[in-house]
Amino acid sequence: MKVLVVGNGGREHALAWKLLQRERIRQVICIPGNGGTATTKGCQNLPLRVDDFEGIARFALVQNVSLVIVGPELPLSLGITDYLQHEGLTVFGPSKEGSQIEASKCWAKTLMQSAGIPTPGFEVFTNLSAAIAYLETAVAPIVVKADGLAAGKGVTVAATLEEAKTAVETLFHNGFSTVVIEECVTGQEVSILALTDGVSVRPLLPAQDHKRIGEGDTGENTGGMGAYAPAPLVTPALMERIEKEILKPTVNALRQRGIDYRGILYAGLMITPQGPTVLEFNCRFGDPETQAILPLLETPLEELLLACSQKRLEQLPEIAWKPGVAVCVVAAAQGYPGTYQKGQVITGIEQAEELGAKVFCAGTQLKQQQLVTNGGRVLNVTATGETFEEAIATAYAAMDCIQFEGMYYRKDIGHRVVSTTSSLD
Ligand SMILES: Nc1ncnc2c1ncn2[C@@H]1O[C@H](COP(=O)(O)OP(=O)(O)O)[C@@H](O)[C@H]1O
Ligand SMILES: [Mg+2]
Repeated sequence: MKVLVVGNGGREHALAWKLLQRERIRQVICIPGNGGTATTKGCQNLPLRVDDFEGIARFALVQNVSLVIVGPELPLSLGITDYLQHEGLTVFGPSKEGSQIEASKCWAKTLMQSAGIPTPGFEVFTNLSAAIAYLETAVAPIVVKADGLAAGKGVTVAATLEEAKTAVETLFHNGFSTVVIEECVTGQEVSILALTDGVSVRPLLPAQDHKRIGEGDTGENTGGMGAYAPAPLVTPALMERIEKEILKPTVNALRQRGIDYRGILYAGLMITPQGPTVLEFNCRFGDPETQAILPLLETPLEELLLACSQKRLEQLPEIAWKPGVAVCVVAAAQGYPGTYQKGQVITGIEQAEELGAKVFCAGTQLKQQQLVTNGGRVLNVTATGETFEEAIATAYAAMDCIQFEGMYYRKDIGHRVVSTTSSLD
């Protein structure tokens, strides 16, 4: 069978790689793909825009594609699933309406509030003066969030009310029409990616990522500088609680609103002393969490995704996982998450993989048969192991083989899961 993957990140390379491990998958086509998917055997890039729904549908129908997997939130929020389903295609990814769970923080918060799903207390504002008046009486720290897709740049955790006011002003000034002001909670963050067909819900292994650019989790927020799975913080008992208090009620609330949600429901949680609370939902696979989760998946990926798309997830046996753990370290271009250069030649990927790691390309491109950088987060070195110490050692040994001008990566990915059990720190 042929599968189409929409997107061009490390997540999409990991999806294509995982799918192609099965003989039954004859070909994966990535739209538009990257330098990694271009050089993966059995995989091919098609240079269409992710919002060219008509072009994507035409290609998928002519090529007899069995499944379309949508990676990024943007085409989902623009309604790619509705369009392709209407054309008769099988799609993994929620409808435009369902994607609001990520595309509108206000919509998601209201859904959680009415369904009794734990989430920090909040207020919604549609004009600056009301938001400022509210902040006059509020207590810092406090969190300011843009309503609408902001590519990871819409949230300020404000230490002071002055900072919160500036954040609110900036958001309205930058054209956002709605702002959420939210209670600040503390704890460790975890990412729970769950498969759902709109009725059943099956969580994947719990993951944690490192969002900040600097070591020790300092500096600016990024798309994610590394991840690992399974996160030991999420014990079986905690996972059960997350399913019961968060995942199932959310899928039920969506269904009660007439939303047929088939895809990934990704809960960004804070594990507070009182228990898990939802900071946000995403409507797609997380990046880089997916790169750490998929290498551990034993059940064929296409069977799971097809079961979601065809509304028969309930009938599948429990998801099987390989033993061990996985760690993913992101290499970024110098200057990221600010401005950075593109077009730097990348070397050493083969040597890195000879050490047992897998390199998933992200912001890369194949130019005159050479792999060059083409984005802020350039590639993901992923390694598995029996222990986190082992996986981390393999990932960093492999990273040592890779070079490009201005390459930057954090040296402390996974520090939370090794510092308590070894003397590595
Ligand atoms: N209520 C909150 N309390 C404390 N920290 C928060 C809160 N909401 C968000 N954050 C922090 O801000 C980050 C980004 O917020 P999130 O809602 O995930 O937005 P996005 O991923 O769309 O930028 C979170 O990963 C977390 O570190
Ligand atoms: Mg987030």
